[in-house]
Amino acid sequence: MDKTEERIQSLTEHTYGTWRAQKGWKKPLFIKDAEGVYMYDQDDKRYLDFSSQLMCSNLGHKNKVVIEAIVKQAEKMPYIAPGFAQEAAVNAVEALLTVMPKGLDRFFFSTSGTEANEAALKILRQYMAPKYKVISRYHSYHGGTVAGVTFTGDPRRWYAERARCTVEGVRFAPDAYCYRCPFGLSYPDCNIQCAEYVDYMIKEEGNVAAVLVEPVVGTNGRIVPPPEYFPRLRKICDENGALLVADEVMTGWYRTGPVWAMQNWNVMPDILTTAKGCTGAYAPVGITVTTKKIKDYFEEETMCHGHTYSFHPLVLSAVAPSVAEYKRLMATGLPQRIAGYLEKKLYELEEHHECIGDVRGMGHFWALEIVKNRKTKERFDTKADKFRKVLMPDRIAGEALKRGLYTACWYDTLMIAPPLIITEEQVDEGIGILDKALEIADREVVHTDTPGSRSSGAFK
Ligand SMILES: Cc1ncc(COP(=O)(O)O)c(C=O)c1O
Repeated sequence: MDKTEERIQSLTEHTYGTWRAQKGWKKPLFIKDAEGVYMYDQDDKRYLDFSSQLMCSNLGHKNKVVIEAIVKQAEKMPYIAPGFAQEAAVNAVEALLTVMPKGLDRFFFSTSGTEANEAALKILRQYMAPKYKVISRYHSYHGGTVAGVTFTGDPRRWYAERARCTVEGVRFAPDAYCYRCPFGLSYPDCNIQCAEYVDYMIKEEGNVAAVLVEPVVGTNGRIVPPPEYFPRLRKICDENGALLVADEVMTGWYRTGPVWAMQNWNVMPDILTTAKGCTGAYAPVGITVTTKKIKDYFEEETMCHGHTYSFHPLVLSAVAPSVAEYKRLMATGLPQRIAGYLEKKLYELEEHHECIGDVRGMGHFWALEIVKNRKTKERFDTKADKFRKVLMPDRIAGEALKRGLYTACWYDTLMIAPPLIITEEQVDEGIGILDKALEIADREVVHTDTPGSRSSGAFK
């Protein structure tokens, strides 16, 4: 065993690996450096980061401006308690106000997306009392803690439920998933039944305080709703006296084109949560943003929430320079150009690989849904298989990694979400590797005479 292997072993033996049976936490790849859109292992082998790690390193790795701001803050004042005013928090607020949709301008700072959603839950349940129910959707992930995982529709919730680690009062609505419509309908003749059903749910449930959505579903499939979905959902919430909460932890920060994905449909939520890209992942920050009306409610009422690390100066120091770096990058026009290029390349990939059932996404936020049979849309693996065995997308991602490409995956999709700094040549490099890696699944597809219909998801 060489020195690096020994060190990996000491890490895996003494720590819990996340979201896995621990026998699967034995030989993680050792990454010793990362710069731009690449990361490097102990042998200096280079990997193109095609998923921005966990859809968070939007500015790429080693951004000097953000790093310098954090270093300066570390030297000056890394920590002060949340009850004091301090410069990093003021700078963060001022920068955020330049990118928030009008009317969303009251912030609470924590240290993760999960905590941003926990804070949203506590705020909205106090504000909406005695209404308390939250409607989420089956294809969703909203965090790892007890409340966050209860809002989550994916299998991570099943494990928490077995361990009785969930909260009361969360219900799940059908997804706006046109490729596999839960009502068996087809857009545009469907009357957006997935939205209408939420109206039915709210009326039947009673006591619904809020509807919580990922504007474009992230980990659970990059599901882009039809254009009418969010305007209708906003109306349904208003008519029924429920809040609309947008979880922009993954979709925020130009991932889908505009700063916020909800801006694609000109819909403003009552509460927005974000994290990940708000610092380009250089420091852990979670942000819960509300309207003034919600904050005003707490003028007399106690906002019964906080942590030692709320408003942490060291991590907040990364927010303002990140906002500035996003603006600088967007002004170059590169991300806007690449979004179209990436889309074109992914559809070309679909032409060559029968295992690709659907291509979905927007901007720098895409998924390839992998199927065994394009015509019937049969999957290789089911939702219940997740965390139980090595699935087809894991095998494709594993092959890609061997060939120098990192891409995150889920039980039925590969997630394509490179940093916003990626260039055409680098997209070509990634697509070239995927082209080879996808052959693993192509070899196991069930061939049918009739080609499958082309994808559903990229509404224009
Ligand atoms: C939509 C969404 N919400 C919340 C979270 C939780 O964020 P964090 O992992 O920072 O706690 C995630 C994480 O992937 C996410 O994708």
